Amino acid sequence: MEVASILIYICLFLSSLLSYFFFIKKKTRISKPKAKLPPGSMGWPYVGETLQLYSQDPNVFFTTKQLRYGEIFKTHILGCPCVMLCSPEAARFVLVTHAHLFKPTYPKSKERLIGPSALFFHQGEYHNHLRKLVQGSLSPDTIRKLIPDIESMAISALESWADGHVINTFHEMKKLSFQVGILSIFGLLDSNYREKLNENYHIMDKGYNSFPSNIPGTPYQKALLARKRLDQILGEIICERKEKRLLEKDLLGRFLNFKDENGQILTEDQIADNIIGVLFAAQDTTASALTWILKYLHDDQKLLEAVKAEQMAICEANNGGKKSLRWTQTRNMPLTYRVILESLRMASIISFAFRESIIDVEYKGYLIPKGWKVMPVFRNIHHNPENFPDPHIFDPSRFEVSPKPNTFIPFGNGVHACPGNELAKLEMLILIHHLVTIFRWEVLGTVDGIHYGPFPIPQQGLPARFWQESTSLNQDCSP
Ligand code: HEM
Repeated sequence: MEVASILIYICLFLSSLLSYFFFIKKKTRISKPKAKLPPGSMGWPYVGETLQLYSQDPNVFFTTKQLRYGEIFKTHILGCPCVMLCSPEAARFVLVTHAHLFKPTYPKSKERLIGPSALFFHQGEYHNHLRKLVQGSLSPDTIRKLIPDIESMAISALESWADGHVINTFHEMKKLSFQVGILSIFGLLDSNYREKLNENYHIMDKGYNSFPSNIPGTPYQKALLARKRLDQILGEIICERKEKRLLEKDLLGRFLNFKDENGQILTEDQIADNIIGVLFAAQDTTASALTWILKYLHDDQKLLEAVKAEQMAICEANNGGKKSLRWTQTRNMPLTYRVILESLRMASIISFAFRESIIDVEYKGYLIPKGWKVMPVFRNIHHNPENFPDPHIFDPSRFEVSPKPNTFIPFGNGVHACPGNELAKLEMLILIHHLVTIFRWEVLGTVDGIHYGPFPIPQQGLPARFWQESTSLNQDCSP
């Protein structure tokens, strides 16, 4: 009897223990706090904080937010709720390790102008194929052959500025980076096509940041018409290439020769959208970086002299500039290269990447709701004193040692990282070489401050005057 009652007691004890654990577990599941939205302000209804972002110095906008709310905060930009993430780990989470949860996203009006098949609007197989083609055409092995042509473009641009008139540096740099973009896509293109592409691309570009309106005569409508004409011109170029059966290794050649594993080729629309997409990705970014480099060098004459000394040595080795730059020389310009890196850090041309979360995602206890825009803010990562001490000071020597992992990402990271970064750097090195060895320039007006349109550029595009330096025997680096 006693044994039976002990057994009953043990059973009762065990069952109550089990139900206790079950209850606790259930309770924990029920009461587990749901991830909360990050802190931050959503601003005014509909406009949110768009005006603040686009009217303020972006450094001030982002830094104030981060100081107030920390490394993750919510806001409302361009009609969309957004989560901004400002740490290297968070940028890696969104762009690399969990990239499949965040799709690239652009306003429809912009997608319409560039063309919906451009690679950076896509994820998955289509994006992979296109990306490989673009990467191949912009690889070091391919672009090294472009050096003599980029040099002659840079020299003729510099000569055209050096007659004493005031130029808008950013506008002129845009012309140069457009030409280099055309070169990388088509090789040496017939001047008639080049001019037509230039003229229509310029109209499209003017409408790109305008209000998307359906009213005829507005910049956006003009841009759409110009975009249609670009399709026609590209169609003619493609047709001519096919007739001549030219098997070029440039980007257009790669697009035309592409076949996927099922034998599927690219349509003319897909090719046209990707050509416009690459031109778009290449032009303002490189022009903005070049404009900042000129400003930073102008503001630090001692640094300019040191860069000049580095470049003069190369110039002299090239028979006073009579021989073309060699690839190995462009890979051995340590100070000039550090000036480029520091300019990319300081200016942070692409302030943030733009993605959309495809499901509810939890990151560090915060909820990023499905459909919200997600923006890893490169600018804050580049301006955080923990990553770069005294971040507001222009100091190329900080790049004598490599930055901490994931803290320097001017060209992005992961599956959408910039495939044009080597070409952009090559173009900058070549322009600086010819600029500092042959020319001088002065910046006009008090031009401190950033204009954000949408790429950050110095106020008024950096008005400047250029002239050719009087050549002495040792300085004969003229073309
Ligand atoms: C200083 C100059 C440049 C900077 C700072 C820059 C920066 C970037 C960044 C940050 C991205 C990634 C955007 C994202 O993740 O959403 C990107 C993508 C891209 N860039 Fe660049 N870029 C520059 C020049 C160029 C040039 C010269 C080309 C081509 C000739 C180019 C072609 C592209 C393309 C095609 C993509 C999209 C890649 C993809 O989605 O897979 N970029 N760029």
